[in-house]
Amino acid sequence: MSDQRKPFVAGNWKMNMDAASSRALAAELAAAAGSFGDVDVAVCPPFPYLAVVAEAVNGSPVELGAQNVYHEPKGAFTGEVSTAMLLDVGCRYVILGHSERRHILGESDADVNRKLLAALDAGLCPIVCVGEKIEQREAGETGKVIREQFEGSLAGLSAAQASKIVIAYEPVWAIGTGKVATPEQAEEVHADLRSLLEQRYNADVAAAVRIQYGGSVKADNAASLLGQPNIDGALVGGASLTAEAFLPIVEAAAS
Ligand code: 13P
Repeated sequence: MSDQRKPFVAGNWKMNMDAASSRALAAELAAAAGSFGDVDVAVCPPFPYLAVVAEAVNGSPVELGAQNVYHEPKGAFTGEVSTAMLLDVGCRYVILGHSERRHILGESDADVNRKLLAALDAGLCPIVCVGEKIEQREAGETGKVIREQFEGSLAGLSAAQASKIVIAYEPVWAIGTGKVATPEQAEEVHADLRSLLEQRYNADVAAAVRIQYGGSVKADNAASLLGQPNIDGALVGGASLTAEAFLPIVEAAAS
């Protein structure tokens, strides 16, 4: 972590929880927020529980995020959700281009880019995910894959817009597998992403953008990952589903 950037830990609940457990977990996190320290914390529940969680964290520093959004403002797009709807229920963040959306639901960099521009236009803070598959890492293609996702997903963004986003590096092979990237493996990609920001924009943008690591982050590996100079927080899946598992990661980010 660096002194310039406030650490940011977000819980991606994915397609888990129900209304009662969402409300209970959000209330538990909100109650613990007094001891968070200097770290931003957000939870990203499934769409049907956004309003439930918004109510439970209301007035606390715990922020709300969504896991996806559609780029069109309104209309005949059955099953989709707009940026205005997310803002209306109290979202500040939206996760875009998660690998599960890229690889299971078929989202392309162009799709991510349309959503990113719409989210920024609306005033949401996007968390843009990038990450390589295991066969790409083994073929020595990690740098190339990350650069292509970066360029495709961030196409057309101005420096002012880019400085407002969060990037999450989530190696696909580390997601939900218990196989965490080593701090060195993660730091290498985070440093590459920061130099892509500097080359494409400038040093100020590169210094401002927070880059989270995601992929099997747990209480026992969070401190070593977050101790790297270019790792500014975590995007947490499995370990965000209970306060016992999530709060120590927030603590590690604060210290
Ligand atoms: P896990 O923490 O369960 O590996 O999931 C990471 C992730 O995909 C967060 O977006």
